[in-house]
Amino acid sequence: MYRVHRQCRACNSGDLTSVFDLGIQPLANNFCGLHDEHAGYAPLEVLYCNQCSLGQLSVVVDPEIMFSNYAYVTSASATMDAHFEALYHDLMSNQGSLGDVLEIGSNDGRLLSMLRHRGATGILGVDPAANLAAAANVFGVPTLGKEFDIPTAEKIKTMMPYPNVIIARHVFCHCPNWHNFLSALQIVAGPKTLILIEVPHAEKMLRNVEFDTIYHEHTSYLTIKALKIALQGTNLVIDLIRRYDIHGGTIGIYLRRADDKRTSSTTTDNVTLEDWRVFGFAAVNRIGELRNAVEARVLQGKTVCGFGASAKCTVWLNACGFSQKQISFVTDTTSLKMGKTVPGTDIPIVPESELLNLKPDYAVLFAWNYKAEILEKFKEYRERGGKFIVPVPKLEIV
Ligand code: TMP
Ligand code: ZN
Repeated sequence: MYRVHRQCRACNSGDLTSVFDLGIQPLANNFCGLHDEHAGYAPLEVLYCNQCSLGQLSVVVDPEIMFSNYAYVTSASATMDAHFEALYHDLMSNQGSLGDVLEIGSNDGRLLSMLRHRGATGILGVDPAANLAAAANVFGVPTLGKEFDIPTAEKIKTMMPYPNVIIARHVFCHCPNWHNFLSALQIVAGPKTLILIEVPHAEKMLRNVEFDTIYHEHTSYLTIKALKIALQGTNLVIDLIRRYDIHGGTIGIYLRRADDKRTSSTTTDNVTLEDWRVFGFAAVNRIGELRNAVEARVLQGKTVCGFGASAKCTVWLNACGFSQKQISFVTDTTSLKMGKTVPGTDIPIVPESELLNLKPDYAVLFAWNYKAEILEKFKEYRERGGKFIVPVPKLEIV
């Protein structure tokens, strides 16, 4: 199910130091029924590359197991729509027009569909999740249900030669092998193509102790410094870098071919071994804080649920060792997750409306990255005396 990884994804060095270890954990998006066979467990440990600063997992879980039938659907939310709007504006101001757009890891086609309405002349998605690719095609977004590798890139080149824009949101952080991905990218990128790679930014994740971003799908925690090293020997350079607030802080890296843009952006970052160590201690404290906050209320006879069965939720619940004794249920909007349990636990996932029907005293906001929107949507829950426990960036009860 997994193989051990001992060579840096960016610089190939073997000089890796263990900096964070959550032990054996379930796959964060492996939502199953309580009695169904699940995919199993794998070590969740981060190694830091002393040569290039990249944090990366010590194992690679077979991508086929994680992605062929994928339960994460891009959230249909105002926060996400505002983020897509920001991406659209940055693409337009850097490229002038959308033209043909290729999206790698296009999920259910939500972003491509929005870009078509905004004037993209052609759209094409590629995603290894057969279930999502099929849904996207039904929804009218042409999508290849394939992993983005060299053979797929050759096929795309015949379908959409040299797109004007290529987008890869939260895909590069999933790559078991950076060099294969960058090779495939060079096959599809033309002399005037603008490429946007968006991933969580290690600097922000460490600063805000967002340890729930660490799960098996996220094989690396990108630094600009490491990416620049990986790009040496390719024909791609960093044109510019933007930071976004979505998902607790992401980074948008805009690439171009070196024959289009000869100089690389001078922006860099500085993530040290010490930063990872400090983060590790802080994460252990945060886990203890949430565990105590929930246990104390359960002992007082209060009911506590979770809000948002995100991958982050799986990480938190397993790190805290919670079962249905502490967290009665978790609400979510994704139909694919209904009737399933949070991986590694016996905690059932129920529709969001149950928050008002079952009226738990507290709801732990595991979808903390949509806080403003969710607090507004569930004003009624709070008016009736319900409280949200927000675990990130700092434990807060509202
Ligand atoms: P994400 O942080 O990876 O986008 O996952 C968010 C999860 O939270 C996803 O399973 C959908 C769920 N969700 C809700 O249940 N209610 C909401 O209002 C929003 C925005 C998300
Ligand atoms: Zn390295």
